[in-house]
Amino acid sequence: MSLAELQKIEVTAARSYPVFLGAPLEELGEYLHSQFKDVEHILIVTNQVVAELYAERLQKGLLDYRVNLLTVPAGETEKSLERLSQLTTAALRCGADRHTLVIALGGGVIGDLAGFFASVFMRGIRLIQVPTTLLAQVDSSIGGKVAVNHPAGKNIIGAFYPPRAVWTDFTTLESLPWSEVENGLAESIKHALITDSGLFEFFETQEESIKQRDPVIWREMVTRSSTVKVTIVSQDEQEQGLRALLNLGHSFGHALETAMNYRGVTHGQGVSIGLVAAAYLANAKGLMTGAEVDRIKHLLNTYGLPIEIKGQDPEVLLHLMQADKKNQGGRKILILPQGTGQAVIARDCTDAEILDAWKQVISV
Ligand code: NAD
Ligand code: GLY
Repeated sequence: MSLAELQKIEVTAARSYPVFLGAPLEELGEYLHSQFKDVEHILIVTNQVVAELYAERLQKGLLDYRVNLLTVPAGETEKSLERLSQLTTAALRCGADRHTLVIALGGGVIGDLAGFFASVFMRGIRLIQVPTTLLAQVDSSIGGKVAVNHPAGKNIIGAFYPPRAVWTDFTTLESLPWSEVENGLAESIKHALITDSGLFEFFETQEESIKQRDPVIWREMVTRSSTVKVTIVSQDEQEQGLRALLNLGHSFGHALETAMNYRGVTHGQGVSIGLVAAAYLANAKGLMTGAEVDRIKHLLNTYGLPIEIKGQDPEVLLHLMQADKKNQGGRKILILPQGTGQAVIARDCTDAEILDAWKQVISV
């Protein structure tokens, strides 16, 4: 396939960049040649799992460059200042300079870590995101948020650092375990709920094909879901307003993940329960009907995503929501769905209402 034939959507922000869809890993080199005449050195940052699966295919197209592969272990704990420092040492040993280009090859952890590294190495070097998980393809590779974690919380040290391009090869999803697919599905269903009722219906009607990983249906799913993200960040790259909608379900989900010490609940499961809690709250506020709440629960259930959690203390969860980055002046700011295809920023939810929503997703 020639570069001109590749499907792409454009993020039109302060500096615009393309999101290529269905772009073979082997062809990224040709694109880099066409765009960046001064690049000689490339650092591929990836993890051991992804390197074994896909580094060779990517490197096949990069034969004209001096390429170094920097591989870190898999896992969220890699998003750390310690790893950032080690990457810096390794990059300098490889002779990296301001003209070096970073390729983040992996899921959201690698995208965030390598992206943050690119944002601060010699005050910023060029970055290409090559997402290999469903979550990364529909969400984290798009929009320029990069970060590492701090003991005080996730993504506390970060930046807005948009990539020069996002290069999405759908075939990398073939090796993704279903538990990881679920994380991406939770975010994709969230995207549908925020702005795209047609996508919500797509998830309802394509259950079997999605579960069987039908490549045509997956292509449509990733394309439609990433389009939601592109559309939102194109209007509000730095999260001054609209982009906050992407946090639907996350204020509840993060509190749950924190309460459970990130054990026994994945991010996607936290988001799923968070979406249901937000739907109950929206119902209490008159933003959606009980039937719509049931529809959301049914859809999440269809994909094996949880709609309730056992044995949690709602008061503790409410308290943990105080740490949410969206809050202002001690007031909790929440994103609530309005039906199944719109969402609003709610500034007037009382603790009693939030507590009530929590109670409806906690089973004994
Ligand atoms: P991840 O990056 O940890 O990847 C999940 C697992 O899948 C890892 O073990 C990885 O080795 C493996 N893997 C990756 N690609 C694979 C493939 N093609 N085949 C088989 N295995 C593969 O998790 P994730 O869900 O992709 O990302 C989660 C991270 O993303 C979190 O740190 C979160 O904070 C971040 N995030 C960032 C943004 C953003 O806008 N920057 C948005 C959402 C989430
Ligand atoms: N995942 C939320 C955002 O990118 O804003």
